[in-house]
Amino acid sequence: MRVAMIGTGYVGLVSGACFADFGHTVTCIDTNEAKIAGLREGKMPIFEPGLDVLVAKNVREQRLFFDTKAAEAVRNADAVFIAVGTPSRRGDGHADLTYVFAAAEEIAKLIDGFTVIVTKSTVPVGTGDEIEAIVHRVRPDADFAVVSNPEFLREGAAIDDFKHPDRVVVGSDDERARAVMQDLYRPLYLNETPIMFTDRRTSELTKYAGNAFLAMKITFINEIADLCEAVGANVQHVARGIGLDKRIGSKFLNASPGYGGSCFPKDTLALVTTARTANSPMTLVEATVTANDRRKKSMADRIVNALGGDAVGKTVGILGLTFKPNTDDMRDSPSLDIVPALLAAGAVVQAFDPEGMTEAASLLPGIALKDGAYDVADGADVLVILTEWDQFRALDLSRIKSAMRAPRLVDLRNIYKREEITRHGFDYFSIGRP
Ligand code: UDX
Repeated sequence: MRVAMIGTGYVGLVSGACFADFGHTVTCIDTNEAKIAGLREGKMPIFEPGLDVLVAKNVREQRLFFDTKAAEAVRNADAVFIAVGTPSRRGDGHADLTYVFAAAEEIAKLIDGFTVIVTKSTVPVGTGDEIEAIVHRVRPDADFAVVSNPEFLREGAAIDDFKHPDRVVVGSDDERARAVMQDLYRPLYLNETPIMFTDRRTSELTKYAGNAFLAMKITFINEIADLCEAVGANVQHVARGIGLDKRIGSKFLNASPGYGGSCFPKDTLALVTTARTANSPMTLVEATVTANDRRKKSMADRIVNALGGDAVGKTVGILGLTFKPNTDDMRDSPSLDIVPALLAAGAVVQAFDPEGMTEAASLLPGIALKDGAYDVADGADVLVILTEWDQFRALDLSRIKSAMRAPRLVDLRNIYKREEITRHGFDYFSIGRP
């Protein structure tokens, strides 16, 4: 099949490269000239493990192309994917669909012959209807179908999630469109991936429901973690104890400083807004958003408490600034709440992140960026593990201790065990454990 992918962000670039690796011919389109020029030279605009190799292979084998102009690719395409950003609109939490509608207008002008227009971006329920209306208005003669095909990619595991998804969801009532989507995803039959066909609105809502449920599950275990601290229980054991129940499942039960990223915060807000507009409020998701925001902000208090209640003039070393490991993404990362609060409390902050340093330099100007974990520990009154990068999992604790001004470790990801840390003479603070 011939595919045009509009947008080369996390979703568009990974989806385009994976479709090409399935054997389809894919052209990824972006208006950003520098981005396209970089991609043509093999320079990735995002950090995603394995993406550079996957892109290079498919460019070399002439299945993957990059362009700033959409005309050629869209005209020849069997399927045109809209994979542009849908950020939270300032203030009201609605998804900002400016880029989606602009793409729909442009595609409408260019399509030739029956074309499937696929929303891969996460869009509110009913957006497919609006895209359909736009294309009809611009091209009353066009023969097309608008399909919802939400992505379920986790940053840092996006390629694997695309190639080995738990399911593919396709929202369309058009038989021809369903046949095109079947052909596009045929390579996944090899590992019997369920492809679920439903109507467009159900598919759009399924994406939000999935993310909101995961965000709620994380927030649930985070509140259990706080209760564990109050009653002297161990949240990791509670998580294991409930996770062994197959109806609950053990994934996404790691207590944390709260969830971040470019999806959960945005999608929970958008779902709450959609539900309010539809007069059917999602009160559990509203509570999740409130609880998670409060949690991220409260983490700085834990660090100040570890310093004895006063951070003025103290040096806080932070390991990890991205919202999760194996990404350079800092969108809605807990560090964006924690660091400013520490600076406001009079602390000096020095930090390191394996991939997030460029982002951090612009998003957290008031901190000193160091070259590694041991530099961050140098002269620190407290060391904080904020993102659970693998390289923070086996620190040389004696070396860390001798570098620090005082041996205090705040482990916000429960990477270490208390006895191991206290044996090295540290004061140890973690999440939801006695
Ligand atoms: C998420 C969904 O997992 C993915 O299916 C969807 O397509 C996009 O949004 P992503 O945001 O990339 O993916 O990361 P994910 O691994 O889901 O983590 C999201 C946040 O939850 C991170 O801040 C992470 O630290 C946090 N988290 C995750 C926890 O706090 N505890 C957990 O057990 C798991």
